[in-house]
Amino acid sequence: MGSPRTKVEVKGAEARHYDLLMDLIMLGRYQHFMEMAIAAMNIQPGDAVLDLGSGTGRNLCMMEKYAGPEGRLVGLDIGQEMMAQARTRCGQMPHVELMFQRIEEPLPFTEEFDQAFISFVLHGFEDEDKERIIANVQKALKPGGVFWILDYNEFDLSHKPFFVKFAFTKVECPLAAEFVALDIRKVLGRHGFGDFQQKLFAWKYVRLLGARKVSAGPGAGSFGS
Ligand SMILES: C[S@@+](CC[C@H](N)C(=O)[O-])C[C@H]1O[C@@H](n2cnc3c(N)ncnc32)[C@H](O)[C@@H]1O
Repeated sequence: MGSPRTKVEVKGAEARHYDLLMDLIMLGRYQHFMEMAIAAMNIQPGDAVLDLGSGTGRNLCMMEKYAGPEGRLVGLDIGQEMMAQARTRCGQMPHVELMFQRIEEPLPFTEEFDQAFISFVLHGFEDEDKERIIANVQKALKPGGVFWILDYNEFDLSHKPFFVKFAFTKVECPLAAEFVALDIRKVLGRHGFGDFQQKLFAWKYVRLLGARKVSAGPGAGSFGS
């Protein structure tokens, strides 16, 4: 069961129309924005990529054209409606696997993936679950593999315009307002990630952060230490 403070467990009509909703929110630019983010991951033919919270499978399909038929794409999600759309979209592709799996619970992967991707999901978890997800990714990645986090950037919400404060405090989940204040590089560093790179989108409110697995992780530590 997810936190009562999250909104990333998308269900019902919102889930059934998720892609359309995102296109409307982004004024028709969502597909293009995701294409730019995925292009920046520099996925190579034959790469194995893990997508945590893979949603409707739209992103997996975009990755497929880079990973090619020799690649392996694994999408994890718990949303029934989201998964149904992903199955329709890319469930028939032989090198795509879709699994009903809570990403904060132990994952059945050890050093199997070249890249891992989590898009607009991580902000919706309590701190201890963020730690578990990061530890899961650390274990699932091959040495030198890269963890890509596409999510809200880090900023001081108190200095942002009224409509941004409104969006983060009244529309988004309370966890999102905490996420923008989090030094995620520090957390990743404690789990053996480094060699960070980033690309900013949407007036710098959204960040694609790449973190390379540079050493064995110590397991879950504690936030704010
Ligand atoms: C905001 S949507 C993002 C979907 C997709 N990553 C994208 O960028 O289009 C969040 C997704 O995370 C999934 N999700 C939420 N909590 C999860 C959990 N604990 N384990 C696995 N998936 C989860 C939801 O079902 C939903 O598909």
